[in-house]
Amino acid sequence: MGVLSTVFHTLRPGTAVVLLALSGCAGSSLTQSGGESTAGPVKIGLLVPLSGVYAPLGEDMRNGFQFYLDQHSGKLGGRTVEVVAADEGEGPQTGVPAAQKLVTQDQATAVVGVVNSATALGLRDFFHESKKLLLIANAGANDITGASKSDYVWRTSFSNGKVAAALGPEVAKEADGGVYLIAADYAAGKEMIAGFRKTFEAAGGKVAGEKYTPFGKTQDFQPFLSAIRGSGAKAVYSFYAGAEAVNFVKQYRQFGLADKTPLYATGFLTEGGVLDAQGEAAVGVKTSLHYSTELDTPRNKEFVAAYRKAYNEAPTVYAVQAYDAAAVLDKALANAPTGSGDELVKALGSVGPVDSPRGQWSFDANHDPQQTYYLREVKSSGGAVVNAVAGPLSGAP
Ligand code: PHB
Repeated sequence: MGVLSTVFHTLRPGTAVVLLALSGCAGSSLTQSGGESTAGPVKIGLLVPLSGVYAPLGEDMRNGFQFYLDQHSGKLGGRTVEVVAADEGEGPQTGVPAAQKLVTQDQATAVVGVVNSATALGLRDFFHESKKLLLIANAGANDITGASKSDYVWRTSFSNGKVAAALGPEVAKEADGGVYLIAADYAAGKEMIAGFRKTFEAAGGKVAGEKYTPFGKTQDFQPFLSAIRGSGAKAVYSFYAGAEAVNFVKQYRQFGLADKTPLYATGFLTEGGVLDAQGEAAVGVKTSLHYSTELDTPRNKEFVAAYRKAYNEAPTVYAVQAYDAAAVLDKALANAPTGSGDELVKALGSVGPVDSPRGQWSFDANHDPQQTYYLREVKSSGGAVVNAVAGPLSGAP
């Protein structure tokens, strides 16, 4: 079997480079069908942030995708994979040209990745029109698997509205008064608030205030924390991820809000390296998410142990979403003899249930995962902080 050697380079936004080289693999013979190669190597574009506020999320996704390849001899659908990475940066200005280059210049068979909802929305028409597969492994923009659904765009992660809506009834039940809503000011932040608000208010919850903070630019949250205190809110619901999540949670504790005003969020607020950086400041934060390292199943335990061994850190939801993207591509490529977009998307339609570390999930009719959302609470455990799983959220859509 082949030995994988991976070389990662520091990339400027918009650049792409072949990241993964395979040596010693018994290459299958190249056959022709309809003018395209079948059993030869397949090139997959990996579009994740390698720079900017979401760079750590991109690294987790890169690791998750690579981890699946390493566990499967560097092959998907029986074909040796060459991964070409490009930098999504902080949004569509960098992400869209980088994706276009992966398809037109690098000739990638499919593109996997995308962290930011605004990038995903900016990419939709290009993939729809060029009839190439875009497999989104994070960005949750609702329209991608809703009003703007395309045959060529699929998602292994979540939609913003659903992961947020899952938490609404729980907070309505627990909060002792009005709840303040606060999020990063861009597509995902808006949808994470709207999705939560819908099920929260339907369950009798009252909103005490709503604020959107400049995305990627806010480091000092003090003025916003003062407004929260001034509103008299009894709890807070929020959406932040990456570097913004670290600052928000630490400052929420330093400002003295954490003990009196419970903090709720979608799970991105306390995920992975972000939680490590927050440390004890995050204890007590409750979130909704479709994954936790603490999920007590044999499949997850085995995955967490193997991933830790490979990367010397715990996996994250971002790694799992990318790992699952590789898993579904593995099945789809096996049933796509020429690797055309049309064959691939047809094959994705019949991949069936995915046996994921998050639990079993399947694509729904809109190409979004049908999955369980869990209520998690940050707890201190043996000198580390973890997202303990309280159970499945019954209000999950
Ligand atoms: C998004 O922009 O859709 C997004 C980004 C980071 C997250 C979750 C969602 O952690």
